[in-house]
Amino acid sequence: MKCAEKLKSVKKEIWQQQGIYKPEGENVESAEFEEFINNVRENSDIYEVVSRYVPLVMKGGRFWACCPFHEEKTPSFSVSPDKGIFYCFGCHEGGNVFKFISKMEHISYFDAVKLQAERLGIKIPSRKKSSAEIQTEQEKDFLLKITSAARDFYHNCLKTQEGEKGRKYLEARGITKKVIEDFKLGYAPDSWDFLTKKITARGFTEKQLLEAGLAIEKKSGDGIYDRLRGRVIIPISDISGKAVAFGGRILIEDKDASKYLNTPETEIFSKGKLLFGLDKSKQAIISKNTAIVVEGYMDAISLFSAGVENVVASLGTAFTAEQAKLLSRYARKIIFCYDSDAAGQNATVRATPIMKNTGAEVFILVIPDGKDPDEFIRKHGKDAFEQLLKNVTPVIDYQFRYNLEHSDISTLGGKIKVLREIFPVCSELKNTVIQKEYLKKFSGALLIDEDLIFEEWRKFLSRSQKNKAAPKKNPVAGNSLIHKCGSSIIKKLWYEPELCSYVLECVPKENFISIHVEILNYIEKCCNEEKMPNDLTAAENLSENANVEIAEILGTYLPQDSETKAFEDSIKILQRMLLKKKYKQELTEAEKFFQAGDIKSFTEKTQLALNIKKEISEL
Ligand code: CTP
Ligand code: MN
Repeated sequence: MKCAEKLKSVKKEIWQQQGIYKPEGENVESAEFEEFINNVRENSDIYEVVSRYVPLVMKGGRFWACCPFHEEKTPSFSVSPDKGIFYCFGCHEGGNVFKFISKMEHISYFDAVKLQAERLGIKIPSRKKSSAEIQTEQEKDFLLKITSAARDFYHNCLKTQEGEKGRKYLEARGITKKVIEDFKLGYAPDSWDFLTKKITARGFTEKQLLEAGLAIEKKSGDGIYDRLRGRVIIPISDISGKAVAFGGRILIEDKDASKYLNTPETEIFSKGKLLFGLDKSKQAIISKNTAIVVEGYMDAISLFSAGVENVVASLGTAFTAEQAKLLSRYARKIIFCYDSDAAGQNATVRATPIMKNTGAEVFILVIPDGKDPDEFIRKHGKDAFEQLLKNVTPVIDYQFRYNLEHSDISTLGGKIKVLREIFPVCSELKNTVIQKEYLKKFSGALLIDEDLIFEEWRKFLSRSQKNKAAPKKNPVAGNSLIHKCGSSIIKKLWYEPELCSYVLECVPKENFISIHVEILNYIEKCCNEEKMPNDLTAAENLSENANVEIAEILGTYLPQDSETKAFEDSIKILQRMLLKKKYKQELTEAEKFFQAGDIKSFTEKTQLALNIKKEISEL
C-alpha cells in the first residue's frame, strides 16, 4: 500500500479507536464513519464557506477571488460549488471544503471536519466517556453557562438607565458602539447582589457562582456578594469566543480602589494560556500575517475602535511561552507594542526572546507620545498609528538600545556587559553582511575600536561553537539526518497526533534521537488522553530542552503540502535506514552460519536478507 493510502486507512482506524464514533462491528463502524463525514460534506456549501473569508465573484461558470493563501492582485483562486472544490491557478493550492477550512483556520484536517460539523449543527459521534470525564465536562459546562449568562446580564445592564455611567465612560474613551457590541462590553452596577440575584434566579447555586469567580463569600460565612461592582465590564473570551473571565474597570480613578479587578483563574480560565481579543482578531491577524501585542485590554479595545483589528492583549502579565506558541499559529510577524513606561519596556525585553523562540519575526513599536497605544491612537488617529507600524524596530536594535540605556557604558565593564547581552542576538541574524553592519554600529555607540569588537565577536563565536559541540549542552546532537527526519515527523504529529501510532509502527521509537523520544512519548500520551499536544500543556510536560527543540521544530516554516511530503519522506528515510541495518545484520549472521557449516540456517538467513532488500526497493 502506498504511504498516502496507508495514512488514510490508519487515520480511520485511529479515529475508531479514539471513539470518534461508536464501535459496533467493523462494517457498521465504517458505515457510520463514512456517513458522518459525508453528511458534513454534503451539507457544506463550499461557496458559503469560502465567502465567509473572501468575497467571490462569478465569471465563466465559476467563482473567483484573490487567493487567500498567497499574495496576488488579480484573482486566480477559483471555487466550483457543483464539484465542491477550490483551486488556485497561482499557487496550485486546492481541495475540498475541509482542506480549505483547515488552511484558513490553521487547524488539522480532522479539526476542520469537526469545526464544520459544529457550524452545521451536526452531532459528532462519540464514544462513552468515563464518569470522571463526564463530571469535569459538566462542571466546565456549568461554569461556561454561568459566565455566558453573566456576560449577557452585564452587557444588557450597560444599556439600561443604571448603565448610563458605563456608557458615558466608554464613549469618553472613544469606544465605538460596534466594538461595545462585538466585545459585549458591560456594566456592573454599584450593588452587592446584582449578579448574584440574577444568576441564582436562573437556577444556578451560590457555590457555582463562587467557583466561577464571580462572587465572594461573606466574611460572616453567611452568603455571598458580587465580586465586580460599579465597574465597566470587559469579558475575557477564549479562542472560540466564549466568555471565561471578566475584568472590571473603575470609572473614576481612586487611590483607595484598584483600577482593575479581574475574576480569578478557574477551571475554564488560565491567564497565561489565553490572549485577550484573539477570538475577534484571528482573521485580521491571519490575513495580514501580522499580530500586534499590547499590554492592556483597553489598548486592544481602543485599537479596534480606531479600526486596527490585528491586535491581542497579554492581560498585563508576563508574556508566556504558551501565548507565544498560540500566536505563532496565526502570524509570522509579531509586533510588541507595550506601554512606553519602564514597566512596559521591561516586559518587552522579556517577551521578545520568548516569541522569537517560535521562529516568528519579532519587532517592537515604542509609542513615542503618550503612555500606551490607546492614548496614542486617540490623540493622533489611525493613520498616524499605521505610520508607526511601518517603522517598527527589529529586536536587535531594540535590545541594543535597551542595554545601552540600562548599563553604565562609561566603564569598560559596562561596555562588555552590553556586548555580552547583544552578541547572542546578533548571532541569530542569518546574513553575515548585516551582522558586520551591526558590529560596526556597536563599535560606534560604545566607543570601542572596531578591530577590538570584531576580535571579541570571533571569540564569542568560537565559544558558542564549542558549547554547541559539547554534548551536554546540546541535547539534540546526534546523527543529523535522523534528527532532521525526526523533526519533520514531529512537526506533523504535533497537529495530527492520531498518526503517531502509524509512525511508530513504521519506525519504532528507539530509532529516534533521545530528545525526540521524549517528545514522541508526550504526543502518545496526548493521543491516549485525547488531547492535542499543542493544547498548551506542552510547557509543563516537557523538559526545558524538549521545549526548546519543539519551539525550533514548529518555528521552521514550510507550506502545508511540503510539510506532508517531508513527513512522508522522513518516514521512508528512517525505514530505509532501519531496514539496511537489519539487512546487514542478517548477512553477518548468515556468514557466521556459513563458516560453521550450517547450510540450512545460512539459506534461511540469506533468504531473510533478500526479503529485506526487496522491502527496501519497494519503499
Ligand atoms: N491590570 C490589572 N490590575 C491592575 C492594573 C492592571 O489586572 N490593577 C492589567 C489589566 O489587564 C490591564 C493591564 O494590566 O489591562 C495593563 O495595565 P495598565 O497599563 O495600567 O492599563 P491600561 O490598559 O492602560 O488601562 P487604562 O487605559 O484603562 O488606564
Ligand atoms: Mn491605558
